[in-house]
Amino acid sequence: MAPIQSVYDYVFTKIKDFTMSNTIDEIRGEIDALHEAGTYKTEPVLSGPMGPTVKLVGGAEVINLCSNNYLGLANHPDVVAGAKKAMDKYGNGTASVRFICGTFSIHLELEKVIAEFCGTEKATTYVSCWNANEAFVPSLIGPGDAVISDELNHASIIDACRLCSKKAQRLIYKHSDMDDLARCLDEAKGARRKLVFTDGVFSMEGDLADLPGIVKAAKAHDALVAVDDSHAHGVVGRTGKGTPEHFGVTVDIVTGTIGKALGGAAGGFIAAASPIIELMVQRSRPQLFSNALPPAVAGGALAALALLKREPNRVAHLQENVAYLRDGLTKLGYEVLQSPTAILPIIVGDTAKALRLADAMLENGVLITGFGFPVVPEGTARLRAQVSSVHTRNHLDQALKAFGAIRDK
Ligand SMILES: Cc1ncc(COP(=O)(O)O)c(C=O)c1O
Repeated sequence: MAPIQSVYDYVFTKIKDFTMSNTIDEIRGEIDALHEAGTYKTEPVLSGPMGPTVKLVGGAEVINLCSNNYLGLANHPDVVAGAKKAMDKYGNGTASVRFICGTFSIHLELEKVIAEFCGTEKATTYVSCWNANEAFVPSLIGPGDAVISDELNHASIIDACRLCSKKAQRLIYKHSDMDDLARCLDEAKGARRKLVFTDGVFSMEGDLADLPGIVKAAKAHDALVAVDDSHAHGVVGRTGKGTPEHFGVTVDIVTGTIGKALGGAAGGFIAAASPIIELMVQRSRPQLFSNALPPAVAGGALAALALLKREPNRVAHLQENVAYLRDGLTKLGYEVLQSPTAILPIIVGDTAKALRLADAMLENGVLITGFGFPVVPEGTARLRAQVSSVHTRNHLDQALKAFGAIRDK
């Protein structure tokens, strides 16, 4: 019987190889199409730390206008020292998920500081804010519940809503349109739990959510409000506590990243009332089935939050830099939205054009990213400038000079 078995094996292997090579060829075709359309993205590779300028491998030192290092803490000596100290004490990692054997005291220390920062009872951490958002929504919203989301919310919120039970209502309102939000809340009237989830700062537009409007509408319908303040923490509000501080309102849940202004490494969190955080610890799958934040990351984040508390003037300085660049771009004839965020998008329409303009900026000594479909809707491709508190006037003037040089393109 052995030879027959071998014939079967042979035929199945051939069919498998044929199908496999067809699939790989098909994928190769998709990648070739991106190259042909001029929309294939390449990654800048840096040979040193993140800062107001960066050194490209094999290239020059350039002005950095595309990092979320809003407060310049990604390579701050205190933050690096905090990370090293935590690593010396706890080693490299937990080698386990949290509830089995993976919670270090530094995790609890960080979560206490995050809760205080967000003005909530408790907080819990994840290896990224992407994870935190995907942990949060499906754990809170089950069958018979409703989640209502702004159409321009970050991809992690969109995917988090998609992960909810099929028996939950998933409603989307037009960007910052309070009438459309009211329509969704009406539609969700019969739901057991209702949650409105919004970005605090919309990462591709650089605008703020209408938090007062959202809170008012949600209260009237007995709905909870969650805000992802990943691009607002350290940036918006007098002391950098984000959009609730900026507007003087209270929300029920805050999610955020510690991979941007708050240390720049990685990691995310959910901050809320105790029962919600306990629910996350008991139920959320990215915490139940995935390792905790590495201790070095927790130590760096603790140092970053301490720096922000000690030196709130970093936020004011960032806001001055943002105003300076926005003003300069406006004088050059660029249309830039008025907003207190550190994200300045310049819409150019076509994806290939955005990528070409980013290349032209690099030739002029400035690293800036061009974004196109599928990151932003088709036809709204853009250059996105991001400002840091550690940019000097000289850096910003050089950047404006480059914007002047590419303007006519
Ligand atoms: C609004 C928002 N939420 C979540 C994330 C994801 O953050 P992290 O890098 O911590 O996963 C980002 C990152 O781009 C973001 O802009």
